[in-house]
Amino acid sequence: MPLICYVNGEFVEAGEARVSAFDHGFLYGDGIFESLTSTGGRIFKLREHMDRLERSARALRLALPETKERIAAIVKESVRRSKVGDVYIRIIVSRGEGYPLLDPRVVSRPTLAVLLHDASPPVTTATTYRNRGEGLRLKTAGVRKVPPECFEPRVKSLNYLNNVLARIEAIEAGFDEAILLDLRGFVAEAPGENIFIVKDGMLKTPRAHQVLDGITRRTVLDIAARAGIPAQESDLTLYDLYTADEVFLTSSFSRVHAVAEVDGRSIPLSGPITRQLRREIIEMERTEGEPVG
Ligand SMILES: Cc1ncc(COP(=O)(O)O)c(C=O)c1O
Repeated sequence: MPLICYVNGEFVEAGEARVSAFDHGFLYGDGIFESLTSTGGRIFKLREHMDRLERSARALRLALPETKERIAAIVKESVRRSKVGDVYIRIIVSRGEGYPLLDPRVVSRPTLAVLLHDASPPVTTATTYRNRGEGLRLKTAGVRKVPPECFEPRVKSLNYLNNVLARIEAIEAGFDEAILLDLRGFVAEAPGENIFIVKDGMLKTPRAHQVLDGITRRTVLDIAARAGIPAQESDLTLYDLYTADEVFLTSSFSRVHAVAEVDGRSIPLSGPITRQLRREIIEMERTEGEPVG
């Protein structure tokens, strides 16, 4: 059964999903996206992803071609038509097709694509560990996080080159994943995940205005508040990571993923708080995700 995607008003088989080479998303990275999953017929945090898509669009003065409610309905319809249990979903809105000039007036209407993919990527990356217990080996990248003074990190835009370079650096050095520092030298995030540490029973993560305000990050902080686990959003140094009791990454794809090593310093693997948070979020995904229908 082929996966069904949606591009500019039409549902098509995944292999037939196409946008123009003159699309400003392709020409300039002028667009935004969301990544989410559907597991067991439920889409986790669909409304939160739609809200973030809308905020990103407003920040970039990009008009969403459909309301967020209609986009959510298209996402559910694509999953329904695909008749699959677990799937990786990518929503992309670009400024649209037009003359290759860096001028929004040459573009007539934004492009909307909802792409569905098998839930397991083909190569061994950090995210292939989604359902496995192993801890990740992280490496601090030389590439730095673009500072908020230059580009707002809470916008989930199509400009991911620093993140791509950081990931390449980590992989070429034989690690699973990179850590990006900000310009001040504080820990920011991984290329596609937020980062948390646990020290003396306290959960800590960098402040949201320095990084992507991850939906899983928020969910983890909510679970911690409910479970009485103290949590703090604060600047973290590499020393904090090296000496942490537990380190884990969060994303909509891998949820909560334990870290085993940071720059050659081993971290006690999958400690009790990491395990508890992972268990609870997987349970929430199973019970609270929005039914595809
Ligand atoms: C740079 C970056 N940080 C963090 C995350 C995690 O965010 P979320 O939990 O919303 O998936 C992502 C997800 O794609 C990301 O690209």
